[in-house]
Amino acid sequence: MVPAMAGTTAKLVLPDGKETQLPVIVGSEDEHAVDITKLRADTGYITLDSGFMNTGSTTSAITYLDGEQGILRYRGYPIEELAEHSDFVEVSYLLINGKLPTKEERQKFSTDLTRHSLIHEDMHNFFTGFPPTSHPMAVLSAMVTSLSAYYPDSLDRNSPADLHITRILSKVRTIAAFSYKKSIGQPLMYPKNSLRYCANFLHMMFAVPSEDYEVSPIIEKALNQLLILHADHEQNCSTSTVRMVGSSGANLYASIAAGILALWGPLHGGANQAVIEMLEDVQREGGDGKKFINDVKNKKDNKRLMGFGHRVYKNFDPRAKILKNMCDEVLQHLGINDPLLDIAKAMEEIALKDDYFISKKLYPNVDFYSGIIYRALGIPTNMFTVMFALGRLPGWIAHWKEMDEDPGAKIGRPRQIYTGEQLRKYVPIDQRTK
Ligand SMILES: CC(C)(COP(=O)(O)OP(=O)(O)OC[C@H]1O[C@@H](n2cnc3c(N)ncnc32)[C@H](O)[C@@H]1OP(=O)(O)O)[C@@H](O)C(=O)NCCC(=O)NCCS
Repeated sequence: MVPAMAGTTAKLVLPDGKETQLPVIVGSEDEHAVDITKLRADTGYITLDSGFMNTGSTTSAITYLDGEQGILRYRGYPIEELAEHSDFVEVSYLLINGKLPTKEERQKFSTDLTRHSLIHEDMHNFFTGFPPTSHPMAVLSAMVTSLSAYYPDSLDRNSPADLHITRILSKVRTIAAFSYKKSIGQPLMYPKNSLRYCANFLHMMFAVPSEDYEVSPIIEKALNQLLILHADHEQNCSTSTVRMVGSSGANLYASIAAGILALWGPLHGGANQAVIEMLEDVQREGGDGKKFINDVKNKKDNKRLMGFGHRVYKNFDPRAKILKNMCDEVLQHLGINDPLLDIAKAMEEIALKDDYFISKKLYPNVDFYSGIIYRALGIPTNMFTVMFALGRLPGWIAHWKEMDEDPGAKIGRPRQIYTGEQLRKYVPIDQRTK
C-alpha cells in the first residue's frame, strides 16, 4: 500500500459551504490521487465518473503505465527490454511473483507448467458439444469456468493458489489450441513435454498425427514477443473485471473466465479481429482506405478506425511501435507479401497526418498490427482474441493474486446517482393508461 503524503490533503468545498479535507496519495512514480474513501461517510456526497476516466480502483505494484509519455513497465522493467530479451514464461513469472526468476526458479516454473498441460479426458467431450460455428472465445470462457468443476479444491479460498495458477496458465494454452482443432475438424494434438511453452502451443495448433511438424524458431520468437506485449496493462476493462469478480470471493477460474468474456468485446480484445475485418472490407472495395477514413471522420454508421485510439495512450502506444517493426521482420522472414499490410500502412499514414485523428490524439494501438502478424503465423482471424487472452492471462492472475493477498481488499461495489421516478403509488392494471 502506497502511503499518503504525510499530512498533505486536498480541500473540497461543497455547495452548502461545508468543507472537507481529503488525503493525497502519491505513487512510486509520483502519480497523485485524492483519497475519497471517507467522502460519503463525512459529507453524504459520492463522486460520479462514468467509464472510470479518473478513478483509481486500487493501488497496485504490478504495472506502470504513462499514457502521455508512452511508457509501459512490468514490475519496473521496460516493455521494450522484456520483448527483446525475455520470453513469455519468464515474464509470466515476473508478473505473478514480482521478480525475475533465478535459474532454479525458472526451471521449476517451466517444469510445473509442462506437467500441468493436459486437461481431464472427460473435458474433451465438451468440445464436441459446441456447434462447429462457435466462436472460440465462447468455448474458451466456458471451458475455463468448467476447470473449477474439475478442481473443486479451488472453491476453498484457503487452498494453495500457486497450484491453481500453474494449472490455469498451462491448461488455457491447451484449451485454446483444442478449440481451434475442433473448429476445423482435425484430431486434437496432445501437448509434448519436450517443447517450450510457445512451441508447445504451436505444435498443438498446427501439427497433425500423420506427419512431422517442426516449430519454426522465428514463429516461436514472434509468438513469445506478441504474448509478452499483451501480458498486462494495469486496470483495463478485463483486468478490472477479474478483480471485481474475484473481490466477491469467487475462485481463480471463475474470475479469469469473467476476464475472458470482458476481453471479447470489439472495443477491447476483439479489436484485433475487427482491424482485419476492416482491412478486408477496404480491400474488397478495391480502395486504399481514403473513403473508409472519410466515413470515420463523418461518423458514418458510427464507423471507427479500428486499432486506433486508446483510453490511456494519448501520444503513442509503445507496444504498437514494437509490433510495427516486428510485422515487417516476420513477413519478410516468412516471405509473405500481405496486401492487408500495405493497406494498413497507407491508412496509418493518412490518419497520422489528418487533423481529425491528431486533434483527438488517436494513434495506432497494439491491435493495429498484431492481427497481420497473427495471420502471417497461420492463426485464423476468429482466434485472435483467444491469442490476446492467452497473452493477458499472467496479468489477470497477477492482479487476482495481488487482490487475494491484500488483507484490506473489499468487495467491489460502486454507487450510483439515481435518475428514475420518485415514489409513486401502484396502479391496478384496469386503471392504467398508455
Ligand atoms: C479504445 C477506445 C475505446 C478508447 O475510447 P475512449 O477513451 O472512451 O474515447 P472516446 O470513445 O470517448 O473517443 C473520443 C473521441 O475520439 C473519437 N474516436 C476514438 N477512437 C476512434 C477511432 N478509433 N476512430 C475514430 N474516432 C475515434 C470518438 O468518436 C470521440 O469523438 P468525439 O469527441 O467527436 O465524440 C476508442 O479509441 C476506440 O473505440 N478505438 C477503436 C477500437 C480499438 O482499437 N480498441 C482497442 C484498444 S487497445
